[in-house]
Amino acid sequence: MKVVAFNGSPRKDGNTSMLIRNVLGVLEALGIETETVQVGGKQLRGCVACFRCMENKNRHCAVDKDMLNDCIDRMLSADGIILGSPVYFSCMTPEIKALIDRAGMVSRANDMMFRRKVGAAVVAARRAGAVHTFDSINHFFTIGEMIIPGANYWNMGFGREKGEVENDAEGLGIMKTLGENMAWLLKKIAG
Ligand SMILES: Cc1cc2nc3c(=O)[nH]c(=O)nc-3n(C[C@H](O)[C@H](O)[C@H](O)COP(=O)(O)O)c2cc1C
Repeated sequence: MKVVAFNGSPRKDGNTSMLIRNVLGVLEALGIETETVQVGGKQLRGCVACFRCMENKNRHCAVDKDMLNDCIDRMLSADGIILGSPVYFSCMTPEIKALIDRAGMVSRANDMMFRRKVGAAVVAARRAGAVHTFDSINHFFTIGEMIIPGANYWNMGFGREKGEVENDAEGLGIMKTLGENMAWLLKKIAG
């Protein structure tokens, strides 16, 4: 059983990364393999609306010049997917949006290929926009027939400078609960 997490912050070891690591730590302690993929700050362009994925139906984006198809392969090989993003102007980063738009369209072209995988959003913010970002990322999971575990709050942590989120005890507690519930759900689905 495996969970792949995508860090959409260009700050590789920043607050989003720390929140993700807290969830993955719980998953690993409960026997689930994890992997993190850095997408923030990487070449990952938006959807060009060519709709060739609808013709090709090969589980890949027709624009094969960046890391998108590698991300798709990692999503397909995992049972659970975490999309982590800092809040940028009250929403997700462009890299996470590009991943959602392109992987989401390829999924629709291929009979909802992420159906019944478990999905979770993780959000780091300084002050505002975390709920909006959390909701926006969740749209990817819900339209893709995926299953979302809850936590004891919406999955967010607060901090501005790198590492400040470690001072948000409530945020870290949410990540722990999310990890526990994600593991529980993954094991139930696996039967
Ligand atoms: C371009 C940019 C826009 C931002 N916009 C917001 C915002 O709208 N709301 C907010 O609370 N924080 C905002 N922030 C702050 C980050 O969300 C916050 O510092 C977060 O902890 C960064 O996570 P990271 O360390 O994983 O990059 C912004 C930061 C940047 C660089």
